[in-house]
Amino acid sequence: MLYPVPAVLVGCRDEEGRDNLMTAAWAGTICSDPVMVSVSIRRERYSHDIIERTGVFTLSLTTEELALAADFCGVRSGRDTDKFREMKLTPLESVKIRAPGVSESPVVLECLVRQILRLGSHDMFIAEVVNVSVDEQYMNENGRLMLERADLIAYSHGEYFTLGDRIGKFGYSVRRKGSTAKAGAAAGKSAPKGVRKHRESGKPVKKYKK
Ligand SMILES: Cc1cc2nc3c(=O)[nH]c(=O)nc-3n(C[C@H](O)[C@H](O)[C@H](O)COP(=O)(O)O)c2cc1C
Repeated sequence: MLYPVPAVLVGCRDEEGRDNLMTAAWAGTICSDPVMVSVSIRRERYSHDIIERTGVFTLSLTTEELALAADFCGVRSGRDTDKFREMKLTPLESVKIRAPGVSESPVVLECLVRQILRLGSHDMFIAEVVNVSVDEQYMNENGRLMLERADLIAYSHGEYFTLGDRIGKFGYSVRRKGSTAKAGAAAGKSAPKGVRKHRESGKPVKKYKK
């Protein structure tokens, strides 16, 4: 399989106004204009039918602080669990659709289903992103999204990981000068390692050990 992938929280709301979240790793960006994403969901998931009926869902990016909740939302079903309440997450009202995002997430995408592909074990929901909400603390004074500050996580082969150090930038392989990452790569070295600190406690984050 292709790894790493994101582990996003997929938010939906049924016709009675009950909110649910499920975790999805089979999700990705599939078009830039219009901005479109896909998420592949097994038919037996409680979220599947709600999203098929309502035609909308949200995708909330996950962070180190949300990792436990992301795992929980991927192993418990909304049929018998209120996952927002159990994980003490706050529903974020969407601007354009009727489905909740996760307030604690740095970025929430509001998605309108355009097509459903019956692939086999999973149905792929292809959706247009009709609104994006970003936690202000990740925007700098020029309105640039500083996503590198968000402590996003990745999912790889059954395990969750923090992202580690920045080792390059889009196009750095062909830029002539000025990129330390390039100079390091050319010399066969990786970029210098920094100590990751927990955003709130300021304590160094423990490295993953097998
Ligand atoms: C890390 C992780 C990734 C997952 N990815 C998917 C996925 O891409 N598609 C899917 O159908 N289920 C996936 N699951 C399983 C669902 O999240 C899980 O069955 C969940 O309980 C469904 O919730 P629901 O019944 O409330 O909809 C994943 C679970 C975890 C822990």
